[in-house]
Amino acid sequence: MKKIFSKVIYRCRQVLWALNSKVTPEEETWTASLLTKEEYTIFSQLNLSDQRHCLDVAYYCKEKAKHLEEKQQKLLVKVSLLHDMGKRHHRLQLWHRILYVLLQNHPNWLNKAKKTSLLQKPLEVLACHSSIGAEEAKKRGWSNDVITLIHHHHNPHATLEQPLAELLTLLQEADEKY
Ligand SMILES: [Fe+2]
Ligand SMILES: [Fe+2]
Repeated sequence: MKKIFSKVIYRCRQVLWALNSKVTPEEETWTASLLTKEEYTIFSQLNLSDQRHCLDVAYYCKEKAKHLEEKQQKLLVKVSLLHDMGKRHHRLQLWHRILYVLLQNHPNWLNKAKKTSLLQKPLEVLACHSSIGAEEAKKRGWSNDVITLIHHHHNPHATLEQPLAELLTLLQEADEKY
């Protein structure tokens, strides 16, 4: 119980820290150099706090993936920048995010909240943004590796083959941190 409580507090603080999010022009240039035009447009459509989060995940992954082949490093940084693209499918407000964090450990309350017209869409998008993002990536004809990593970025039980499994571990580690 204590563990769940401190996790909820940590998550709420993450959400609140995101309020002061900034992305510098240098970071915009760096991101644009790593993504295709289409991917960069998608990154730009994320709200500022999600862009900040994705950049921090990308920096962490870049640092931790130095021992991998260059191709894998590039894939991991690209997916880091795009992994939460599913969150663009609704205009998420701060209070949606806080409410979702609070309800995450109470599936019955979460299901009840999802049935209200005001909360249905935002909670659905927050709960399913990994599959929503993967579905969009598939429709756009992106690579299977990108689709798989986006799809499983919140799945602790994913069983992928190497080197994808290691990339997913790093992505999840960074995602938890920021
Ligand atoms: Fe996510
Ligand atoms: Fe994330």
